[in-house]
Amino acid sequence: MCGIVGYVGSRPSESILLSGLARLEYRGYDSAGIAVIDGDGHLGMRKRAGKLQVLRDDLQHAPLADGTSGIGHTRWATHGGPTDVNAHPHLADDGRLAVIHNGIIENFAALRAELAGSGDTFLSETDTEVAAVLLAREYHANGEDLEAAFRATVQRLDGAFTLLAMHEDHPGLVVGARRNSPLVIGLGEGETFLGSDVAAFVEHTRHALAIGQDQIVAIRPGSVTVTDFDGVAVEPEPFEVTWDAAAAEKGGWSSFMAKEVSEEPEAVANTVRGRIHDDAVVIPELDGLDDLLRGIHRIIIVACGTAAYAGQVGKYALEQWARLPVDVELAHEFRYRDPVLDEATLVVSISQSGETMDTLMAVKYAHERGAKTLSICNTQGATIPRESDAIVYTHAGPEVAVASTKAFVAQITALYLLALHVGRVRGALSAATSAQAVAELEAVPEKISWILEAEQERIAQLARWMADSRSVLFLGRHVGFPIALEGALKLKEISYIHAEGFAAGELKHGPIALIEPGQPVFVIVPSPVHSPVLHDKVVSNIQEIRARGARVIVIAEEGDAAVLPFGDEVVRIPLAGSLFEPLLAVVPLHIFAMGLAEARGLDVDQPRNLAKSVTVE
Ligand code: G6P
Repeated sequence: MCGIVGYVGSRPSESILLSGLARLEYRGYDSAGIAVIDGDGHLGMRKRAGKLQVLRDDLQHAPLADGTSGIGHTRWATHGGPTDVNAHPHLADDGRLAVIHNGIIENFAALRAELAGSGDTFLSETDTEVAAVLLAREYHANGEDLEAAFRATVQRLDGAFTLLAMHEDHPGLVVGARRNSPLVIGLGEGETFLGSDVAAFVEHTRHALAIGQDQIVAIRPGSVTVTDFDGVAVEPEPFEVTWDAAAAEKGGWSSFMAKEVSEEPEAVANTVRGRIHDDAVVIPELDGLDDLLRGIHRIIIVACGTAAYAGQVGKYALEQWARLPVDVELAHEFRYRDPVLDEATLVVSISQSGETMDTLMAVKYAHERGAKTLSICNTQGATIPRESDAIVYTHAGPEVAVASTKAFVAQITALYLLALHVGRVRGALSAATSAQAVAELEAVPEKISWILEAEQERIAQLARWMADSRSVLFLGRHVGFPIALEGALKLKEISYIHAEGFAAGELKHGPIALIEPGQPVFVIVPSPVHSPVLHDKVVSNIQEIRARGARVIVIAEEGDAAVLPFGDEVVRIPLAGSLFEPLLAVVPLHIFAMGLAEARGLDVDQPRNLAKSVTVE
């Protein structure tokens, strides 16, 4: 959370910083600010509470003087509320030094007391200002050498941070450091960029360098140096960004979320592409890891939010096809309960951003305890894959809306590919089962497209009718259960309506007490063809809630006539094998949540209080 951008070059920096921040706004959007060193060598700074547009309007009204270097920040508040004063940049050294920060400096209270004790004063409640004031002190203690001062400063900080700083005395220089928070370098012609992720500079260059943990970078126009915290030079790892800036544009859609839901078919197709050979799944990234995969005895999936629900779906496939026991854990719970881990345990992390701090910490913990780690991730060069023994990338393309949609279907797809790959390597999967699963998987994109074409408008209309609902429940069974949880999460996230997902069989053990006349309940109905027993049980569950007055919206397979009499509304999905139903049933739920939030006049891309990439624990 918090987006960071830095620039040094020969072009006016303000517009470069603002467009970088616009692309990073998904990381936090409660305040924003920039600092620019102008042609006369003065540092100008502006920061405002509210979305980036508030800052833009302010700058248009009263521009800063032009400069060709600068730093910018978009914030998700941790220490101190979202006010103008707490917004970044924070200044020190009589306004000549500017600092921006993403993360949490855990020892800030002790440092603040120490600095205050020797006469320093603070304007804000933030941990960041403490780093700025400390850096100013070190600057003078280190002969006004900004890089040396920066090294001395970061060595005194505990916690997680990406920090950028610039000083009036050094106009063409931005220094940055990272510990457990993201930072990447963009290399242009005679200009250099820093960003929380490549989105910050992808419109200018696709040539990037990854910075490792506990490293410091200094950028000047056309040059970069990277060292560790002790000043020893290190070689940053180059990579090319594979998507272009247009992929992260709204391109005519009403919201990024609408665009991203429309890209769900492609997200699945692109994740499958290049990983099928002769009706079997062969994931090239896992080449050479057969012995590792044969040696594992169990899998633990760690993730947060939507990614954790993808993990819960993946569990069914991994158990069925790879014949390995699978536990799914919320990453933030996992490492605080002394889990039993050994080198025969594979910990699979799932993260769209690859930066979620809770997930990263779970991966590091698993690694320290001797487990093998594999990351399913959508973002190249992100921290979690870099900390893992193996990587399977999802190819959903950049996801900008805070609520995850296309990344979710891509994550399930990647888990299915992993299950089929591991099942093959371990000899647990017959060629016929593999071929059938591959055929089903390859058919999914077209089936999602069918839902988008045939059912989208009706679901959106349903959402408009239900815009005043106070609570919506979601029921599912087997793989439909995590989909019910995802449907409820999506609704909570973007429409602020109370929503709960339940396992349909659990209803009678308590939640049925919630049903009162008119209560809307979505029910994901298993296939009567592939899961007839579960199908009939869910139909019974529907009758139980209808008898108590629920208004039932069923998501059912085409041709399922048995369920028709029991649904007040019926949303159709194409026929698919049981394990493939989640990839289809979730699509109406994404459309519904989006339609309902739109009907309530809410910002579907940037819901209140949230951020897409949560880089604090
Ligand atoms: C945040 C977002 C969720 C997302 C979760 C995990 O909570 O609001 O939409 O599912 O983080 O994010 P990740 O990037 O690790 O998949």
